Amino acid sequence: MQPTPRVDAQAVVSPSTTTPLFDEAREPFTIVIFGATGDLTARKLLPALFNLMVEGALPDRFSIVGFARRPWSDEDFRKDAQQAVSQFSRLAPIDPANWERFAARLSYQQGTFEDPAGYAALRDRLARLDQTDGTGHNRIYYLSVSPEESPAIVQQLGACGLAKEDPGRAWTRVILEKPFGHDLASARALNQLVNSVFSEDQIYRIDHYLGKETVQNILALRLANGIFEPVWNRRYIDYVQITVAETLGVEHRGGYYEKAGALRDIVQNHMLQLLSLVAMEPPITFDAAAVHNEKVKVLQGTMLDHDGPLERSVIRAQYGPGQVDDKSAPGYRQEEGVAPNSTTETYAALRLHIDTWRWSGVPFFLRTGKRLAKQVTEIAIQFKSPPLMLFHQAGEHRVEPNMLILRIQPDEGIGLHFSAKLPGGRMRISPVVMDFNYRTAFAVASPEAYERLLFDCMTGDTTLFARRDEVEVSWALLQPILDAWAQA
Ligand code: BG6
Repeated sequence: MQPTPRVDAQAVVSPSTTTPLFDEAREPFTIVIFGATGDLTARKLLPALFNLMVEGALPDRFSIVGFARRPWSDEDFRKDAQQAVSQFSRLAPIDPANWERFAARLSYQQGTFEDPAGYAALRDRLARLDQTDGTGHNRIYYLSVSPEESPAIVQQLGACGLAKEDPGRAWTRVILEKPFGHDLASARALNQLVNSVFSEDQIYRIDHYLGKETVQNILALRLANGIFEPVWNRRYIDYVQITVAETLGVEHRGGYYEKAGALRDIVQNHMLQLLSLVAMEPPITFDAAAVHNEKVKVLQGTMLDHDGPLERSVIRAQYGPGQVDDKSAPGYRQEEGVAPNSTTETYAALRLHIDTWRWSGVPFFLRTGKRLAKQVTEIAIQFKSPPLMLFHQAGEHRVEPNMLILRIQPDEGIGLHFSAKLPGGRMRISPVVMDFNYRTAFAVASPEAYERLLFDCMTGDTTLFARRDEVEVSWALLQPILDAWAQA
């Protein structure tokens, strides 16, 4: 088959490479990372904080405290952090002067997550940092820990007075990693616990997809352009397909994944977030509350096909052994930490309906899996065919309906597929693509998702985090599937 011809779309005005990616967060703060010796801290959090500092987004007075079980000194933590930042920062190789500036802000507090002694020592350390580093009593607690460990940390923070705010003078915020709960009941219980220690506006439930530039661009595309919103509905759209395909397997995360599976790991959070951004009504403003209200509303209207058996709405599968790049790769059941008779799904596909005035009758197909042939995250909006296929009369049968593809990653961009006349005397039609590519259109590197999300937390903006009801409504939607699969 011939490749579809492409026309490139360029930015009309390129932003200057010297324009900062972020404004500066002005208020001083200390961030405490629980789970400071873990993978997420090394791969994402420390590099993101370092990048923010280099981009000029951090205030002059900030401090980073690592909290974990290992008996490390400040110096051990700094060494480990240097290696992590050198390996994972998008700004690597790192400038030695920048590293010195960053390293001076790092310190380490040893403690177990359940033992009050570690929290008392942390409280003293934070008070000292307020004196020595002028961090102004503002705190962020980042819980970069496994889901079973979060409740104990939240409780201990509450018990030793570390969750309190001093309204108007100092703030305290907590960032919780996904998965947020294991099902509807556990998500509700976790919300109840966290909300009993922190108020909702102190809580930042992170979903790193919301920090991706191309995910935020969904709303820009819909709402900053006059031509899309009038056709963004059941009259013009045939169906919507959302795909999160990964080539990697579960790697070293078999133990975690066994309890999760594709539905909990990707669909409940990342995919339903993508769906809500595509399908929500335009908010009145870009305020956190207005955006969350619309997302919750559309998720409340989203449902499985209630007319037929569940198998007609959802399927699951698991990858088996095979070849990757000419090397043999284990099947899921052969991965470390996975039971040899595991039924955990590594692939899930769902057909959802959104019972609203805008979307009634338009199926939303969601599919995700590990060890698939191609890595791609994208949203395909398939439009209906034109009403009169007059080209058929001319013997032309290749007229395809329009499709708008929002490519989240890799190769971030947007492609509009439409039909054009082939050169020549006859009316022959060919599909073509008008293509906008993020990387070539704008001459600036996009920040990492965690940079954006950490920055928003520092400035007190919860828009790109999940609100309590948002999390619960998405679990409620999937609960019938979880129940059915648990009994199968
Ligand atoms: C995480 C999942 O939330 O997202 C992983 O736990 C998955 O299983 C990852 O691989 C995908 O994120 P990204 O940013 O690589 O698409």
